[in-house]
Amino acid sequence: MKGFEERNLTPRQIVEELDKYIIGQKNAKKNVAIAMRNRWRRMNVKTEIKGDIIPNNILMIGATGVGKTEIARRIAKITKAPFTKVEASKFTEVGYVGRDVESMVRDLVEQSVNLVKTMKKDMVKEKAQENVEKIILDALIPPINPNTISATPVGVTTTETPKTDAELNEKTRERFREKIRNGELEDRKIDISIKQANSNGIGMIGGGMMDESSMINMQEMLGNMLPKKTKKRKVTIAEARKLLFEEESSKLIDMDEVKEEAIERAENSGIIFIDEIDKIAGNSSKGSGPDVSREGVQRDMLPIVEGSTVSTKYGIIKTDHVLFIAAGAFHVSKPSDLIPELQGRFPIRVELNNLTKEDFVRILKEPKNALSKQYQALFDAENVEISFNDDALELLAEKAFQINEEVENIGARRLHTVMSQILNDFLFDVPDVIGENAKIIITTELVEEKLTDLIKDKDLSQYIL
Ligand SMILES: Nc1ncnc2c1ncn2[C@@H]1O[C@H](COP(=O)(O)OP(=O)(O)O)[C@@H](O)[C@H]1O
Ligand SMILES: [Mg+2]
Repeated sequence: MKGFEERNLTPRQIVEELDKYIIGQKNAKKNVAIAMRNRWRRMNVKTEIKGDIIPNNILMIGATGVGKTEIARRIAKITKAPFTKVEASKFTEVGYVGRDVESMVRDLVEQSVNLVKTMKKDMVKEKAQENVEKIILDALIPPINPNTISATPVGVTTTETPKTDAELNEKTRERFREKIRNGELEDRKIDISIKQANSNGIGMIGGGMMDESSMINMQEMLGNMLPKKTKKRKVTIAEARKLLFEEESSKLIDMDEVKEEAIERAENSGIIFIDEIDKIAGNSSKGSGPDVSREGVQRDMLPIVEGSTVSTKYGIIKTDHVLFIAAGAFHVSKPSDLIPELQGRFPIRVELNNLTKEDFVRILKEPKNALSKQYQALFDAENVEISFNDDALELLAEKAFQINEEVENIGARRLHTVMSQILNDFLFDVPDVIGENAKIIITTELVEEKLTDLIKDKDLSQYIL
């Protein structure tokens, strides 16, 4: 693909990357890695069979909070694939209309556009920054027209006597350019004009007559027809930098190219994560009122998973090679309760293990974004150091595990609630009571102290933990 590099990691490399963030779940990681690599393999197939090779859609089966979403999200990040997540159960809600299942494909394209835009903007970053600097400088010290006479800006002294105003102006600009670059003037206010997006100005037209996609198209068409308003604003240089950078980098990229590339990328490497698929398995024969039949939702979903075209405001996308990862706990229903056609479209089944106490300890400590590391970073922002004793983390994991068993099993999510419970007072006291350069050590005693009463009182822990 043109424009930016794709990461063609081997299955082993993908698992290695996943291991940096997710503890355990070997089987799920392995299968997701194979599915990703198979797509690359397909793109590199030299014969016509290429078009017939379908992605190995995956069905993840596992209790809540064991890492299903995390694996899917992370794999997308690692491979720079467009990603979107949808809850299957949302399609059974009141007011649902069949076509809405297509919204997940539109979301995917939206994500893909953002991804491509960000990458393209990154490629023109330097040029955009240059332009921004020039606009800021012009606002600060307007370039002189040689015919007009202007006074020396206040507060500027020069050692040599310049010959003309133009020269003086140039010298001053040079000096301020330096200052802008060194960030010396970040709080100085300047006037800039910014283009206003005018998409919100258009009300609903012909309500009920149009489906979502033509509605979007209509809005965009009208939005493009109306001239973009520019608005003058007084902002600090720091703010101006941000606002102008957006605008300048947008000017430098070709939106048609972005759209085209985004569609291509979504088609060939997009991932749609369908969560809570178990909630639409089996028929809602219990007479749950106005709910749309679950089987109906599955039938609506089928063509998208099988491969069809969906029109979006960025163009038409074929879903044939989009990778679908469905996930569910399947406590009540079973995968075999899904309609056979849909089952057939998710040939790879992976079961995720329930996490153990030992997993919890590792989750607290090891991942690149481990909770303990996240909090260390937060406190570090206040110049406060926090450390966790190993036995304290072990106790914390044990308590989390215990609460999961006694109250409700929410998997590793429990670690978040327990951790925040323990750190709550510190988070409140920094920096007012606990000042800079303080050191906080989390010990087993402290964990005990903060949790014991809560755990004893089940009613209370249901609400707080
Ligand atoms: N195996 C794991 N390794 C590391 N963190 C995990 C693991 N499982 C869950 N987590 C953490 O728990 C939280 C919820 O996980 P998530 O993947 O959303 O669960 P679910 O299986 O319900 O989709 C996330 O913050 C994630 O970081
Ligand atoms: Mg989830």
